[in-house]
Amino acid sequence: MPTPVADRDALLQQALAKSWFYPLTLPDGRALPSTHDGRVDAIHLTRARMLDQLIDAQFPGDRQALSAIDIACHQGWFSLQLARAGFGRVDAIDARAEHIADTQLLAHVYEQASINPRQRDVFALNAQDDGTHDLVVMFGLLYHLENPVGALRVARALARRACVIETQVVPHLGGMVDWGSYEYVRPLKGCFGIIDEIDEVHAPEASVTGVCLAPSTEGLLWLLRAVGFRDAYVLPVPADGYEQLRHGKRVMVAALV
Ligand SMILES: C[S@@+](CC[C@H](N)C(=O)[O-])C[C@H]1O[C@@H](n2cnc3c(N)ncnc32)[C@H](O)[C@@H]1O
Repeated sequence: MPTPVADRDALLQQALAKSWFYPLTLPDGRALPSTHDGRVDAIHLTRARMLDQLIDAQFPGDRQALSAIDIACHQGWFSLQLARAGFGRVDAIDARAEHIADTQLLAHVYEQASINPRQRDVFALNAQDDGTHDLVVMFGLLYHLENPVGALRVARALARRACVIETQVVPHLGGMVDWGSYEYVRPLKGCFGIIDEIDEVHAPEASVTGVCLAPSTEGLLWLLRAVGFRDAYVLPVPADGYEQLRHGKRVMVAALV
């Protein structure tokens, strides 16, 4: 049912009165205020292009019968992209209530009824209560968590066909490790960097606990297979894409069920 004009104007005013982490333009062409004067738009736009390519490759054709879940949706920009790509159901999940309210506002503004925003911690999600989804999207979350392996297990449990993870990564460390004795050694599969966000847990983009483990790319690929994905690979970055993605300091990884 279309929103009455007066309610619609109120909605647009509400959106214009807030600031947004993402580059957003109202259907009438007015730009929504940016929290950072557009300085981080490049990362969002590159990731959106890469997500579109993944969706086209893995989910060609009509997507109305398909469902996606956007874990750590923030203000719902990628949820909006999934809805516009035609996924018939898009669950938008974030630990922070204010992000869920903003995602709901965006869903109303852009009249995307397939978006279902819900406040949940990633570790509270499970297949029984939250269903399984053709596509699981987990962007910008892994390196804000103290239990990234647990989050990968959640992603695997919720994924029916594919999962796409985007994360900051740390330099890889490889080689053999003495495992009790120099005569009993094990290959290092990857590593994590410990990052301190303890004083930033109030920040809208930060960890909710303050202790963060960021993986190496090699470690992430190994872990995705270890938690049950049949394959995992790093997605190609456009030649003019965001510098961190081009230089492998962040990666977007597809994992297939
Ligand atoms: C850097 S932002 C990334 C947002 C968005 N996915 C993106 O890539 O633009 C991190 C997001 O993770 C959310 N978050 C942090 N810890 C979380 C947790 N344990 N469970 C669910 N969401 C969490 C934050 O509220 C924030 O929206």
